[in-house]
Amino acid sequence: MDTTLARISHLPAPAEGSFADSLVAGLAKSPKELACKYFYDEAGSRLFDQICELPEYYQTRTETALLTRYAPEIAALMGPGMEIVEFGAGSLRKVRILLDAAQDLRAYTPLDISGGYLGEVVRALAAEYPALTLRPLVGDFTLPLSIPDLPGNPRRAGFFPGSTIGNFKPDAAMALLRRMRGALNGGGLLIGVDLVKDPVRLHAAYNDANGVTALFNKNLLARANHELGADFDLDGFAHYAPYNAMAHRIEMYLVSLKRQSVSLCGQRFDFAQGEAVHTEDSHKYTIESFREMACRAGFNPRAVWTDEDRLFSLHWLESR
Ligand code: AVI
Repeated sequence: MDTTLARISHLPAPAEGSFADSLVAGLAKSPKELACKYFYDEAGSRLFDQICELPEYYQTRTETALLTRYAPEIAALMGPGMEIVEFGAGSLRKVRILLDAAQDLRAYTPLDISGGYLGEVVRALAAEYPALTLRPLVGDFTLPLSIPDLPGNPRRAGFFPGSTIGNFKPDAAMALLRRMRGALNGGGLLIGVDLVKDPVRLHAAYNDANGVTALFNKNLLARANHELGADFDLDGFAHYAPYNAMAHRIEMYLVSLKRQSVSLCGQRFDFAQGEAVHTEDSHKYTIESFREMACRAGFNPRAVWTDEDRLFSLHWLESR
């Protein structure tokens, strides 16, 4: 197959509005909030890659080890002739394990919101896999999905690693699973899900000693400054990420260290000293609670793999 096919296509632009609209609406709320999907501009995607390498952030290496160990089993469950569609593709590192194991792969379709970054990583992948049909798509997988069909309409194996599902509130997570199921042409979904565990371990993973997660969190403000001409003082906010054990989630905030006001898109927003802006939730599941949610979203949970310490889980869900 010809790798010049790896040209990037854009799905229809999000109908729900831009970073600017979302920021203005979120800061006008009480309590204030910012949508975590806007972490991932180019700088944010690179910071997230650094998070994945941190000793405290067990998720990436544990999931990668699971994928490596169980790739033949996973490929057998997927079956031959599939199109792999990766939702929120990021660095494309993990998918290489699947690409190597898949039988008679029809195509690989990485979907990501950050076009510049996707272009860069897809070029590298195309050089490594010259025979692979690559269909990179720029788009927002949190919105209704309409992925153009390949001739013959092959079944799709969705790939949604990294426990990104945890960044959605449970109702939204279920709606997302339903939408993904609708985009799979009767195929299945391989999804990584972080597990409920010792709160101390969870806390450390989101409060790393080198402050990379803090930079990632503050990148939302840096992005607003350089993209929208806002004047956030990055040193005027602190990263705060406690684990809410009752709700099984990490909650991430930017806390204003002083009384201040910020101008953005022709408006001023006031922050009290100590005022918290909610930027992200990262929900943790038990294997059972996740399988139950997948069932309610119309999947048949077929297989689950986990590590010996039960830190992380990988699920193969089939469309019902
Ligand atoms: C992408 N997502 C699964 C990460 C998480 O763990 O919730 C994002 C992240 N936020 C802080 N560290 C990593």
